[in-house]
Amino acid sequence: MYESFYGFSARPFQLNPDPDFFFASREHRRAMGFVEYGLHQGEGFIVVTGEIGAGKTTVIRNLLAGLDSRRIAAATLVSTQLGADDTLRLVAAAFGVSTRDLPKSDVLLALEARLAAEAARGRRCLLVVDEAQNLAPGAVEELRMLSNFQLGAHALLQTFLVGQPEFRRILQGPGMSQLRQRVIAACHIGPLDAADARGYIEHRLAHVGWKGNPEVTAEACAAVHEASGGIPRRINLICDRVLLSGFLSGTPSFSVGAVREVAVGLEAETLEEPRGDCDAARDGGPGGTQSVVAAGDPREVDEAVVTFRRFLDWIRQGGRDRGDRA
Ligand SMILES: Nc1ncnc2c1ncn2[C@@H]1O[C@H](COP(=O)(O)OP(=O)(O)O)[C@@H](O)[C@H]1O
Ligand SMILES: [Mg+2]
Repeated sequence: MYESFYGFSARPFQLNPDPDFFFASREHRRAMGFVEYGLHQGEGFIVVTGEIGAGKTTVIRNLLAGLDSRRIAAATLVSTQLGADDTLRLVAAAFGVSTRDLPKSDVLLALEARLAAEAARGRRCLLVVDEAQNLAPGAVEELRMLSNFQLGAHALLQTFLVGQPEFRRILQGPGMSQLRQRVIAACHIGPLDAADARGYIEHRLAHVGWKGNPEVTAEACAAVHEASGGIPRRINLICDRVLLSGFLSGTPSFSVGAVREVAVGLEAETLEEPRGDCDAARDGGPGGTQSVVAAGDPREVDEAVVTFRRFLDWIRQGGRDRGDRA
């Protein structure tokens, strides 16, 4: 909407996790280190947790984007309250196994054969389950059973479990000890510190051709950091609104005042926090990666509607007073 006004090649603060925009903050570098280490181990479970919008899916996509599809077959599954049977069938489907009309025992056999065939061709199989906090206990158990598949001494499947902080609590629960023993790396992605928040904002802007106009001061970045708690998704929401606000007023500016105004407006909006986060499987990802989309994501539609509604309100109110539309 406002890209050409600022001379940008694209919207700098979009909400979909795009590896092209990856900023290696301290938190995300650390997380990348964990997942790369985990990947290198070639077996068991790797657990990645973080608040909504902390960058979990981004880290995983960044990892997948760097994989050699001749050596690794990766499949992504986004969980929405999946039970055990659904999970098994979705995993099978994600690796190209048709499960229609097959009883569970045959699905298991077919999946094992498929994973073994990949291994025989020198490819190992990697499963990413995003939004893992939605998995029913039976579904987690099903995934644990799949981790038993072996060819000789080698595990046929390695699984990344990616979820919100409550997933850690689920794993601490009774009945999860067998899975816990198979976790070979676990990391939690925390918020960006103030310096990284500034680096993050400038990085995303530079990626779409920003050359310092509008000026983004240290104070404005500090205000964004404070208002967002250092969560990238919230940083994106705030910065996007600040740029929109500058566009609507005809003045390209990124001032502390504009940031605070937007932050107050966002706080007042009950829709600020998403109800769920399912963007991992929106596209097929890099070569060799297949995706199963188990849910749509209404969040971005909500956000577009809210932005548009506020824009209409502002027009109705005469389109002048910035304070009215924050
Ligand atoms: N390290 C990063 N570099 C660039 N953008 C990031 C980074 N971390 C998060 N983001 C952005 O923040 C938003 C939320 O990230 P996402 O990976 O979807 O979070 P999560 O999966 O933890 O809910 C996305 O727009 C994503 O592009
Ligand atoms: Mg996510």
